[in-house]
Amino acid sequence: LSLLVAACSDSARFEPDAARTALIGTQLPRGFLLGTSTSSHQVEGGNTNDWTRWERERFPDGSPHIKDERPSGEAADSWNRFDADVRSMQVLGANAYRFGLEWSRLEPAPGVWNAEAAERYRQWARTLRLQGITPLVTLYHFTLPLWVSDMGGWENPATLEAFEAYAARVAEALGGEVDLWCTVNEPNVYAVQGYLDGIWPPGKKDTKAMAAVLDRLIEAHARAARQLRALDTVDADGDGHATRIGLAHHARLFQAASGSMADTAATALTDAFFNNSVPEALRTGRIRLSVPGSTSIDREVEGLKDSIDYFGLNYYTRDYIRQDLGDAALARQYTPKGKGVNDLGWELYPEGLFLFLQRYATLGVPILITENGMPDRSGERRPRFLQTHLYAVEEALAEGVNVGGYFHWSLIDNFEWAEGYEAKFGLFAVDLDSPDKRRTETPAVSAFQDIARNLGLTP
Ligand code: NOJ
Repeated sequence: LSLLVAACSDSARFEPDAARTALIGTQLPRGFLLGTSTSSHQVEGGNTNDWTRWERERFPDGSPHIKDERPSGEAADSWNRFDADVRSMQVLGANAYRFGLEWSRLEPAPGVWNAEAAERYRQWARTLRLQGITPLVTLYHFTLPLWVSDMGGWENPATLEAFEAYAARVAEALGGEVDLWCTVNEPNVYAVQGYLDGIWPPGKKDTKAMAAVLDRLIEAHARAARQLRALDTVDADGDGHATRIGLAHHARLFQAASGSMADTAATALTDAFFNNSVPEALRTGRIRLSVPGSTSIDREVEGLKDSIDYFGLNYYTRDYIRQDLGDAALARQYTPKGKGVNDLGWELYPEGLFLFLQRYATLGVPILITENGMPDRSGERRPRFLQTHLYAVEEALAEGVNVGGYFHWSLIDNFEWAEGYEAKFGLFAVDLDSPDKRRTETPAVSAFQDIARNLGLTP
């Protein structure tokens, strides 16, 4: 019984009452970055890369790669509507924005640099800074130029050279306007979706390749960091802050479905591989990956240790794990009935954010929550989601965790990869069928505004 009571009071801890809710934001420190997050392919529109090819193809069984069969296409047309996006940020009262660079746009063919596109990105960063909005720029967020994909993507070691050269050119082109960088987005998710579950390009189910790709993405981070470090002498803000580099790590809380040995062991293994491999590599400078019964990697990577100035955390949900008896390779992930879930069936679990902030505090660098959000077609549940998760941030801060920022995913409705456009993550809804891709406020906008006001960003 006492266990049960403890469990109940614990989850209540992350449900602030009305009085406390009204204060969310007041406990965030000065200089805290409060903003939103997007990625190039998901909002820009008009791209040509490995995803645009994948979006039109099908699985061998004939089912479409994208649920509703609608390719990314024009998306929210942010490539041409950046001003509208900035206006949305201003409505929010945000002081930060994370956006991605599209490698396929910047380097459409090997060594061919699109200076015009680079200049547009540079202007974006500049515009943001002039508006008091700190840009956080992602170099790689899931999409590859076709020529890189055709040479085997991250399975080919030569992709590392190509990526490092790309990072060097990015540093040169945007360095004067950007201090805050994210090298690689969610290496673990990319490796699992593309090479284990096979539901993202290149659609493989090959544990060896998965480990190799994860290994390579971690090294890609180290290589990009090396190029961005060269900017340390340049200071975009002139405020004494030099370049700050990180990557965005996806953490998913895993809960054993029962106390059985099998469930406990499967949960521990999944947690170690998915949640700890990347942070451990960053902490030690050594990549150690082992996939039971398949492959293992253990090697030091030059420049990896001390390569991050902040740790980027993408947090969304908790999964339960049940080890199916008799099949050691198969640990099923699911959400039990009766849990509050979002439109994609992911449990709403703010406590998980608190737990991960505590866990990753041991890395010894500030944590930026580079993503957190929920697909909510109704728009009615996102305000509470936003409040409870920022409350969890304040609780972690109160316990001494160094959290430097929170970027909500997402500013606007985005192309949600295999889930297509059905998943609505935007604080602003986008009418994809209107000629001007009209942006409309969802109810969470006012919740965000309250937090920004409490933080002192707006009067
Ligand atoms: C993580 C990814 O970085 C982003 O691309 C995706 O849209 C969100 N999470 C939501 O699933």
